Amino acid sequence: MSGSAFASEDRDIEFGSGDLKIPLRIGPDVPPPTVYTEFLAENLPDCSGLQTLDLGTGCGALAVLLAKAGAAGAAGLDVNPLALEYAKRNAIASGVREKVFLFRSDFRAWNNPRVFDLIVCNPPQIPTPKHGALDPAADWSEFAAVEGGADGRQVMNPLLERVPGLLAPGGRFLMVQAAFTGWEESLERLRDGGLEVTLLARKGIEADPLVSARAGYIESIGYRFRREAGALRYEVGVLSGVRK
Ligand SMILES: C[S@@+](CC[C@H](N)C(=O)[O-])C[C@H]1O[C@@H](n2cnc3c(N)ncnc32)[C@H](O)[C@@H]1O
Repeated sequence: MSGSAFASEDRDIEFGSGDLKIPLRIGPDVPPPTVYTEFLAENLPDCSGLQTLDLGTGCGALAVLLAKAGAAGAAGLDVNPLALEYAKRNAIASGVREKVFLFRSDFRAWNNPRVFDLIVCNPPQIPTPKHGALDPAADWSEFAAVEGGADGRQVMNPLLERVPGLLAPGGRFLMVQAAFTGWEESLERLRDGGLEVTLLARKGIEADPLVSARAGYIESIGYRFRREAGALRYEVGVLSGVRK
């Protein structure tokens, strides 16, 4: 995710694309869906009848959308208890509460016996200039929602290690990722985990205020933004990995 647009009070938005739109309520300390979330939603496959999982579900945008789109089940996992309260409320508002299963846990410690046909994820991934060790379980609010540590990959790397074991045979993983944290490295890690990988979609976006504020640091660790009419631009991609 990018952006530091946490609300200071409840607000209601609409999320989704085409025929599939859901109402969402977002509260303080709850990450709102961003252009990253939208891009992932635009690239969802037909999920009819699938058992699905949204890793780091936040307000439940993707989990509720999956349930609404016909998934048999949509699990949502997050460390943020407030976000999960909103995810529950959002599932009720869309009439899919019975298909949305919410879990409060750090994905690294999640004791889950099930596997999934489709896993989606928009991980925290903004490179963090002043970084110590990230501890999302202890610091679960805005910090855990966006900060990715020194190279932006501190949450993503263990996540990419965990994902293959959570996929059913033939199951697919989709993750939205900024180019500045290295698509190739993620694809390589998924390949090492035994998945068939591809960069499914990519598009250029304008840097929001948080990414703009971090641009100097992000360039210092090796990425070059494009500059167009005073704006900074970069690409986001949707990475796909299928368990053989
Ligand atoms: C970038 S936000 C994405 C939220 C939502 N999926 C969306 O796209 O709008 C990342 C989410 O991951 C959660 N998160 C961060 N670290 C986590 C961890 N170790 N285990 C589980 N959830 C985590 C955060 O609390 C946050 O809600």
